[in-house]
Parts: sequence; structure tokens; C-alpha cells
Amino acid sequence: MGISFEILQKDIAARAGRLKVGEKTIRTPALLPVVNPHLPLVTPREMQEMGVEAIITNAYIFSKSAEYRERALSEGLHKVLDFDGVIMTDSGSFQLMVYGGVEITNLETVSFQKAIGSDIIVPLDIPTTPDADRERAEKELAITLSRIREAREHLGPDAQMAGPVQGALFPDLRERSARAVQEIGFDFCPVGAVVPLMENYRYKDLVDVVLGAKKGLSPATCVHLFGAGHPSMLALGAAMGCDIFDSAAYALFAKDGRYLTTYGSLKIDELSELPCPCQVCRSHTAEELKKSPDRVRLLALHNLYVTLAEIARIRQAITDGTLWELLDLRCRSHPRLLEGYREFLRQAQDLEEQDNVSKRRFFYQGSESCMRTEVVRYHAMVERFTLGPRVLVAMAGKAPGDYDDILFFKPPFGPYPEGLSETFPIGQSEVPSWDEDMMRAGCRGIARLVETHPESTVSVLCPVEWAAFVRGELPGVEVLNADTI
Ligand code: GUN
Ligand code: ZN
Repeated sequence: MGISFEILQKDIAARAGRLKVGEKTIRTPALLPVVNPHLPLVTPREMQEMGVEAIITNAYIFSKSAEYRERALSEGLHKVLDFDGVIMTDSGSFQLMVYGGVEITNLETVSFQKAIGSDIIVPLDIPTTPDADRERAEKELAITLSRIREAREHLGPDAQMAGPVQGALFPDLRERSARAVQEIGFDFCPVGAVVPLMENYRYKDLVDVVLGAKKGLSPATCVHLFGAGHPSMLALGAAMGCDIFDSAAYALFAKDGRYLTTYGSLKIDELSELPCPCQVCRSHTAEELKKSPDRVRLLALHNLYVTLAEIARIRQAITDGTLWELLDLRCRSHPRLLEGYREFLRQAQDLEEQDNVSKRRFFYQGSESCMRTEVVRYHAMVERFTLGPRVLVAMAGKAPGDYDDILFFKPPFGPYPEGLSETFPIGQSEVPSWDEDMMRAGCRGIARLVETHPESTVSVLCPVEWAAFVRGELPGVEVLNADTI
């Protein structure tokens, strides 16, 4: 019993897996729609019919509601919400962050969550806001950790409980916090207090915070990105190794007249077309949707369909090994998302160890592709080539005969022996006509070859139009013009 996580497939740091919660199992990455019992724009039953395997609701709202408290205690949460999948309950911590106070103690909320039959219980962590200085972050983190410990001791080692990771904007605190939560005994850890970062498009900070937390967690831990549910950022979340997302966005945006897409949110009043294959969009015109008395609910349904479809697409991309390409596409929808993506790429050195050695393909999509894990790994592998004293890297042209070894060249990777021409990534990469970014990366591959083979002399046979560029990138290396030989 309890919570356990099985990883079936991986891509970058993402995982496709199965989360077992007691007797129930959900596929991950998963989206848990947030259900507000007072205002269910889409009912949990309808969600289940849309393929939702787990939802999240707020135990604090239940505990404070005259209408729901007694019913939840006597009938159980699953009956009240009419949902027999996994129900995670939040503690009221988020109210604490947004409104500054809650009238409940840690032991009261975890006992209440257990009493109403929650499948995943959340202690009363303190979501330290991003503006906190280090002193406050440390102080609140100590309280959070003592509450997590208290909840674990109170409910026992088999209780199905989440261990939130806090630490504000300090990656080292996030790492330390993650390690401490892990040691208390959790296989399911939400990364908390990131909602203000996402609301303000602070994706670079989001990446630093999440990767900090991931460093302190075992790779076997299921990671929940608390409050993340906009379809444009789910691929980034998954690529960082987050397995669970929860979305209130589908409902909040609907109330605000916003139509979610994987490339951003649009105002419904500005749309004359509904560019989406979901049931709502195919059975209404934009005018009908705008004027419908059911407009908020229809928008919420569309928003949820779009978000669930993106989760399915991400799971498929992980299975196919094409998550980099999906990520690249999604992160171009907003400059701040691109900034987050670049921060993620800067840390690709650490990601390389987690990524698969072989994949289906590598599609070059611009300068960011040069920082992908496959390029980092290729450059590290160049060191292992066995070479004679005289080596030629033939970028083009017909190589003259008097060399011990002839290597070919494919940017952004670099030099390769003929034996690797059919293997990943050389054989399965699609690269358009050369550009400076990919050539710079390819030359880094040659530079690695030169550095790691001091006994060999490396020359480059280069197309004349690239000769000046390559000479600039590889000072001290002989660069011959291909068409003068
Ligand atoms: N919902 C969004 N962020 C948080 C968080 O940091 N903690 C909890 N408990 N719930 C959240
Ligand atoms: Zn739609």
C-alpha cells in the first residue's frame, strides 16, 4: 500500500510511468484538474469520461463549508464528488500564501484529509513566496519540514501522503529541502510556491527552482509541480522531470473569458474562429460560444480538453524520444518561456547523464538545438575515437589519400568516423543547410577531438565559403579549402 512510482520510459529528464496510489493506478505525466466543490464548472464525473484518472481538491474548503464538511466526513470524498479515481487533497497552504492566514493546524488538516478518505494527503506546508530573503526562506522551511515530519509521525509510514519541497528562489535550499523531505520518507514530492513564478512568466526562475529540487530528490521519486497547468509550459515541466501537474487554469481562464491553446491564451471575444479539434469547438462557431449562456462552462471544457491533449502528446513524445522537439516548439510561443528553455539548456550538461543514449531522431530547429543533450554527449564521446598520427576531418570534397584516418563531419555534432554514419545521432539527424550556430557547435566537436588526441595532428578540409569561419573557430588547426585540392 502507500504510494509507489514505476518509470516505464524516459526522454531528457522526463518520464512516462505509473503512479500507484493504494489500489489505484494513474499514468504519468498526469494532469489533476482542480475541483472546487462549490463551483464545479466541469463535474468530476465528466472529467472521468474525458480520461482524467486523478483530480485535486481543497480540503480546507471542505473543512470550512457548512454544506460539505459533514457529508465528506460521513459519506467520504469520493461519494460527495462522484469520482472513483484518485483524489488528492490540498491542505489550505495555498490559501495561506494568497490570503496570508488559515484557521487550521497541521494535525487538524491531515487528520481531516484522512477522515474524508483522501488518496493523497498534503501537510500544511508554508509556500514561501519568491520575494522572500534567505533568512525568511530558511525559517519557513524549518517549519514546513517539522510539519511534514509531524504529519508522517502522526499518520504512520504507510499513509498516502505528499512531501512538499519549499525553499523560495534559493536552488540550494530547494535541494536541501528535497533531500530532507526524501529522508523523512516520501515517494511523492510536490515542488511548491511556484504559482507566482508562472503567473509572472518567471520561467527562468522556475527552471532554477525545479532543477534545484530535483537534485535533492531520488530519480525514483514522483514529482508534482504544484499549480502548473497551462498547456504551453507542460512540456518544459515534464522535460525537467515533473510527473504530475494540477490545473485550476482551465477554470480560472474560462471565468476570465480566455481560451487556452498550447501557444498561449486568447481572449474569446477577439476570436472569429475556434482553431481546435475538441468537441466544444467543433460543435460551436466562435459567435455561438461567445453568446452562449453556457459560455464559461464551455470554455472550461475546451480548456480542459486542450490541456489533457497536451499531456497525451507529452506522454507520446516521451515514448517516441521526441520531447526535445515538442519542447522547442512550445517554448517559442513566448519570449519568457524561451528564456526558461535556454536556462534549461544551459543545465543540459547535468541532464545528459539522464537522457537516453539512442533515440529515434534529432531534428535541428535552430541555435537552441546546439545545446541539446545529444550534442553535449556527442562532444564527450569524441574523446574515445582511436586515431593515428595524421587525421583529416573532411567537411566536404574528396579527401586526399595520405592520412591515417579520415573523419567526416556533421554539424552541430562534429567529426565522425564512417562506422558511426548509420548510428544515432549522426545517422538519424536531420539538419538544414549549415548555419553559423550549428557550425560553431560542430567546430567545438573538432576542438574536443584536437584537445583529447595530443598525439594526432588534425587538419580540416572545408568548403571554401566556410573556411574563414572555421579558421576563426579553430585557431592553430590547419584548414584546407576543399575545392583547391
Ligand atoms: N498549491 C500551489 N502551490 C502550493 C504549495 O506550495 N503548497 C501547497 N500545499 N499547495 C499549493
Ligand atoms: Zn476546443
